[in-house]
Amino acid sequence: MADALTLDRPCQAIATLTLNPAVDIAYEVDRLVDDQKTHARTTRYDPGGNGINVARALKELMVCAHSCCIVAGNVGALLQRLLQHHLDDPHCVEVEGETRINATILQAEPPVQYEVTGIGPRVSALALAAVRERFLGLCKEGFGVLTGSVPPGVDEHIYAELLREIRAQGGFGVVDAHGTLLHTAIVEKPFIIKPNRYELGLLCGRELTRLEDVAEESRRLQRQGVEYICVSLGSEGALLVGPAGSFYARAPAIAVRSTVGSGDSMVAGLVAAFARRQRPEEALRLAVACGSGTAAQPGTAIFSYNDLGALLQQIEVTPLDI
Ligand SMILES: Nc1ncnc2c1ncn2[C@@H]1O[C@H](COP(=O)(O)OP(=O)(O)OP(=O)(O)O)[C@@H](O)[C@H]1O
Ligand SMILES: [Mg+2]
Repeated sequence: MADALTLDRPCQAIATLTLNPAVDIAYEVDRLVDDQKTHARTTRYDPGGNGINVARALKELMVCAHSCCIVAGNVGALLQRLLQHHLDDPHCVEVEGETRINATILQAEPPVQYEVTGIGPRVSALALAAVRERFLGLCKEGFGVLTGSVPPGVDEHIYAELLREIRAQGGFGVVDAHGTLLHTAIVEKPFIIKPNRYELGLLCGRELTRLEDVAEESRRLQRQGVEYICVSLGSEGALLVGPAGSFYARAPAIAVRSTVGSGDSMVAGLVAAFARRQRPEEALRLAVACGSGTAAQPGTAIFSYNDLGALLQQIEVTPLDI
């Protein structure tokens, strides 16, 4: 497996940015009953937010990533403690207010998952400038990962602006976002974008039912200047369109437990492979293994490094004629 993961190869710098992080709380309960107190069977606290999740998955892949985020108040202090434990190199910029708490309730019978996300603190212009500078300084000529939503008051052109700055310093921008954040980012020619089928459909203004439709629209974006488009297709796997060909990888057969975080794990797989200068088809294979590995885990837990070997072996990458 060390071969497939090429742990011996040097890795370029990687920095992730999380402007709207959270403390994630997951409760497992037997059953929620209206107007009654329910006792949790288990409680779990995790640092949350897409950029943080990508950094956690990179750590599992034995890739060191710098992660920058905004924290606030007592929840922010708890988040910083969790980050010290979970990440290699967290960098936090403090603002007024409180970091949000996102709650997941996993009900056993009938099996249902409830999710409530909180509202993050307002980020001052000063704090935003500080976190941007820190992020760009850590990214250097490596990979800058821009994922997830932005907190109230932050302009949705921020990813586009950061992409321009990443490129100006010789780095590679990676974007996993939707709506205006993604729309405006594309113009700045990111190195990788990772929409899912629905997000790509919104971007192109049409429903993408067939794999050929997805490939066609991805190629169109690629011609507009996005170097690689990786479209995740849930249980169907994913597709990667780049300058030297297109590839499709079917997802391995797994027992799905919770797909929460699959997209973030997939981004980590892509970035880890490209930062180690692996071939695009290998990047796709690792990305699908990471995504599906996470889908096989319960709740917010991510794939485990030890499971990747078996998953990678199951994933066949097929070249596409587009
Ligand atoms: N049901 C599933 N079975 C197997 N693999 C899955 C399943 N769901 C997701 N995956 C794996 O995870 C990858 C990413 O999943 P998906 O397409 O759902 O991303 P996403 O919509 O961006 O997810 P997220 O909600 O985390 O943002 C898929 O390409 C696949 O490899
Ligand atoms: Mg996603």
